[in-house]
Amino acid sequence: MLRVVVMVSGGGTNLQAILDAVDNGKITNAEVVAVISNNEGAYAIERAKNHGVPAFVVTPKAYETRDAFNEALLETIKACKPDLIVLAGFLVKIPAAMIEAYRNKIINIHPSLIPSFCGVGYYGLKVHEAALARGVKVTGVTVHFANEVYDCGPIIAQRALPIEEEWDVDTLESHIHDIEHVLYPEAVQMLADGRVHVLADGKVAIDPVPAA
Ligand code: GAR
Repeated sequence: MLRVVVMVSGGGTNLQAILDAVDNGKITNAEVVAVISNNEGAYAIERAKNHGVPAFVVTPKAYETRDAFNEALLETIKACKPDLIVLAGFLVKIPAAMIEAYRNKIINIHPSLIPSFCGVGYYGLKVHEAALARGVKVTGVTVHFANEVYDCGPIIAQRALPIEEEWDVDTLESHIHDIEHVLYPEAVQMLADGRVHVLADGKVAIDPVPAA
């Protein structure tokens, strides 16, 4: 059984989708053992508690230095003994020591087709504002491994979304969320099944679903 820790900063709709997918059997061989947030006000914490999943808050405000926060974050994670760390709207830069300790075991979801509209400063609604401002006709969702560089780790899965002319930021976000809530549980399931392999060239190969 894959031990999954989900890290959140906000509303937690992706956390909810993963919890629901475990409950309804779309994710098998995996359990969410803890939720960690940097933000004590995150609604995602309520979602965890409502689901009986332990939630921990590790906030930079409580530490004198960034290094001390990073260390506390890593200690909290290690205590949960995760096999997989799922970043679900976690808006803190992942400390290098954490990447090192969990290389290719940390996944992130980003609300665009990487490498478009990603990197420093691109998160949440800002991504959708940028896509609409540029007038792209297609955007989408990317699930990738986290590495030392924002949004640059090996890509596991992507799904495209054609943009309709009358959409505003809220409409676009809502359609993106609908895709995320399917794609992220699918990616967790592929990992739980051991079908995801990072190759030497930094690309990801996915084994086909075994015949039933
Ligand atoms: C999601 O749309 C996710 O893709 C995005 O934050 C949102 C969190 O929503 N993440 C990023 O922008 C990371 N760069 P949620 O809290 O409702 O799951």
